[in-house]
Amino acid sequence: MKPGLDKAVFSYSTSSDSGELEEENKLLRDTVEQLRGEIEKYRSPALLVAEVGDVIWQGDARHAVIKVPNGNQFYVEVSEHVKDLVPGDSILVEQKNLTVVDKVSSTKKFAVEQFVILEKPTVSWKDVGGLKTQVEEIKEVIELPLKKPELFRKVGITPPKGILLYGPPGTGKTLLAKAVAHSTKSTFIEVVGSELVQKFIGEGAKLVKEIFELAREKAPSVVFIDEIDALASKRVDMGTSGEREVQRTFMQLLAEIDGFKNLGNVKIIGCTNRRDILDEAVVRPGRLDRLIEVPTPKRDGLKEILKIHTRKMKVEKRADMNKILNKMEGFSGAEVKAVVTEAGYYAIRANRTLVKEADFFKAIVKVKRTEEAEGKDFIGMFG
Ligand SMILES: Nc1ncnc2c1ncn2[C@@H]1O[C@H](COP(=O)(O)OP(=O)(O)O)[C@@H](O)[C@H]1O
Ligand SMILES: [Mg+2]
Repeated sequence: MKPGLDKAVFSYSTSSDSGELEEENKLLRDTVEQLRGEIEKYRSPALLVAEVGDVIWQGDARHAVIKVPNGNQFYVEVSEHVKDLVPGDSILVEQKNLTVVDKVSSTKKFAVEQFVILEKPTVSWKDVGGLKTQVEEIKEVIELPLKKPELFRKVGITPPKGILLYGPPGTGKTLLAKAVAHSTKSTFIEVVGSELVQKFIGEGAKLVKEIFELAREKAPSVVFIDEIDALASKRVDMGTSGEREVQRTFMQLLAEIDGFKNLGNVKIIGCTNRRDILDEAVVRPGRLDRLIEVPTPKRDGLKEILKIHTRKMKVEKRADMNKILNKMEGFSGAEVKAVVTEAGYYAIRANRTLVKEADFFKAIVKVKRTEEAEGKDFIGMFG
């Protein structure tokens, strides 16, 4: 017992009635004991999270081969309290001798399907305006190998495993990826790089692994990694554990890309608005080595995009489409779509089902204004 505590108990006992004091004394001792236990708890080293590789029985004795986070494997004891251990379980082990002391509750394990968007897209090539050369290239490097792998075998070339789409936001990158998934009847598995690193702290690498397992299960499939720069950024400098975690997730992604065959029926499409900060490792030969730029549409592209989005719209005959297009110079496909929607709203507010030229003009002003407001935010964020 620490001297300080003794004194406290002692000085108390100089005052009044002894029976009461004994009671008091006991109470204090109990409290001290309890606090000491608490301190002991904080002193005990943290448990390490590891994974069970194998469970080995020798008669009644049970051992396990475990894998610790740095990849090393150990043959260790298992505490009797740990029931039903199977390979793949997440476990807690003592730091010193690595005895397995507990299982990590199964709620920590996640079904990957809850964390990715899994769909069979209905978007077709007809829904993509402009982007002729991009569409041709994607057909060649993704669609054809999925549809006719034997052709590539006969000619003796290997198509890319994946592509990287880059360009400003709203220009149709996601659209292109969905269209190729549709045309090849592939499962479209969408993951967002920034979510992978923010939402699944400590689990990113594992999730990447499971995403590709899922992709193989659901093949033919297209794994679409939006905002891939969040994972594969050359700015990351490993200062914090968060950055190391991102790095681990990225390494797992590279391992998965390297791990399957070019002519397999899983294709990867990476996507970024920030080609400038992308780690070159991801676009090295044998990885996402086909880089396709998806730029802001030129006049012809704009015209096609406007046509696509007004397909089901009744527009007044005298509307001057050229004038409308002139005012939309520099707009992305997403902004054209927004203009069409807004124009429709102006018609609805005026109790019309026919959309007029003036509705478009008003809509264009509105979209420009919101874009400017957002543009200011953007500068504010980085400036
Ligand atoms: N080239 C295009 N042709 C037709 N619609 C487009 C085009 N580009 C963008 N859009 C419209 O804008 C929406 C958002 O585009 P998206 O593909 O998500 O852009 P990105 O992925 O490049 O940011 C699309 O769903 C589509 O409605
Ligand atoms: Mg997108």
